[in-house]
Amino acid sequence: MEEKLLAAKQMLEKYGQEHLLKFYDKLTDEKKNELLNTILTTDFKQMQELYESTKIKPQFDNAKVEPIDHTTKEELSKEELEKYTSIGEEVIKKGKLAVVTMAGGQGTRLGHNGPKGTYDLGLESHKSIFEILCDTIKEASQKYDAIIPWYIMTSDANNKDTIEFFEKNEYFGYPKSAFSFFIQGKLPMIDTNGKILLDEDGMMKQAADGHGGIFEAMRKNGVLYDMKEKGIEWVYIGGVDNVLAKMVDPVLTGLAISQNSLMAGKSLVKANPEEKVGVFCIKDGRPNVIEYTEISKELAEMTDEKGELIYGESHILCNEFNIAALEKISQNKLPYHVAFKKANYLGPEGKVIVPTEPNAFKFEAFIFDAFSTVDKMTILRVKREEEFAPVKNAEGVDSPETARALYKAYHHIN
Ligand code: UD1
Repeated sequence: MEEKLLAAKQMLEKYGQEHLLKFYDKLTDEKKNELLNTILTTDFKQMQELYESTKIKPQFDNAKVEPIDHTTKEELSKEELEKYTSIGEEVIKKGKLAVVTMAGGQGTRLGHNGPKGTYDLGLESHKSIFEILCDTIKEASQKYDAIIPWYIMTSDANNKDTIEFFEKNEYFGYPKSAFSFFIQGKLPMIDTNGKILLDEDGMMKQAADGHGGIFEAMRKNGVLYDMKEKGIEWVYIGGVDNVLAKMVDPVLTGLAISQNSLMAGKSLVKANPEEKVGVFCIKDGRPNVIEYTEISKELAEMTDEKGELIYGESHILCNEFNIAALEKISQNKLPYHVAFKKANYLGPEGKVIVPTEPNAFKFEAFIFDAFSTVDKMTILRVKREEEFAPVKNAEGVDSPETARALYKAYHHIN
């Protein structure tokens, strides 16, 4: 341990992070070892670069942004629809499609104490979000007579609770063997001086590295390997919080194949310039999404001659990737976006500080930054009332109440 401690000290000195060992002596041997391991496996150079990046405004202002082409599902002819459906069905029936649900988020806005997927939507059946998503997979599995593998990405913070929930509910009657859980990566949180925070236990304060970390996590956890072994060719990747997500959709897969695309995404018309959704676009010649936190007012409000939003193809986090594209993306790191958050930490006196204002930078990669690794992407515009009922906030827009109403209307429940 002495040698490890020395190596850790040297590393910290090099990067001006010596405070991380300030309470080292108060830790148990097990915790001491854990802290040293974390320090020795942290990329401090990267943390330094990330700190520098907090001083720069996102680059969208300088990039060339253009609208993206899309196909409107409703406007497809009967022949086209049949063609794409049959191509997609072939993939699903042969067991070549898998579903991945990203459930590593903390669901802070919803205020639910537990993994977001375990939230009871408030239907008479008291189904949780996970059960609702599972219903969709079960239905598709019956329709296409295929077991569709379901991979669920969790985080360190909610992995145990998520698995226990599925165990307790006997995997909602879907074969247990179809499920795989894997944990996403994490990154240290830093203060406004670039110092890494300590958490309440005197360990390094780390947070989930955003859903863009999924590709690396899939590679590191053997998920990609497993998919290839199973002969999977197309992978739907979506968020956990849309209770109308159509995770198995032959039209999306069929259209992507027909257009020779390695990636596809569903869009719908943005409700208004302020709606909290990212929008698909072409950035510097390649597909991308401008996130709602990063779009300028001018771009968000721009309309065409018909009065429609030019940047109005909402990204609903329902995307599909060819396995070849996943392989490629997982080899490289995606850029990180900076969020400034309130985060409790252990102060210099050894007391837990609960800030009332944001105090810490958190770094998150976004899945859609991977879109620019291909030169074209298939975008299928679908109907909001059929495919988008997000559960984000405790009340008001995108809340359990609005999602419940949309879910009931779609499923004809009174
Ligand atoms: C997201 C999209 C936005 C889209 C909107 C549609 C991002 C950054 N933005 O916004 O473009 O229009 O959904 O509803 O995603 N997650 C993880 N690990 C993480 C972070 C998030 O698994 O580290 C998962 C969450 O569990 C959730 C999903 O990713 O299922 C979305 O995350 P969230 O941060 O809630 O994104 P939004 O701001 O709602």
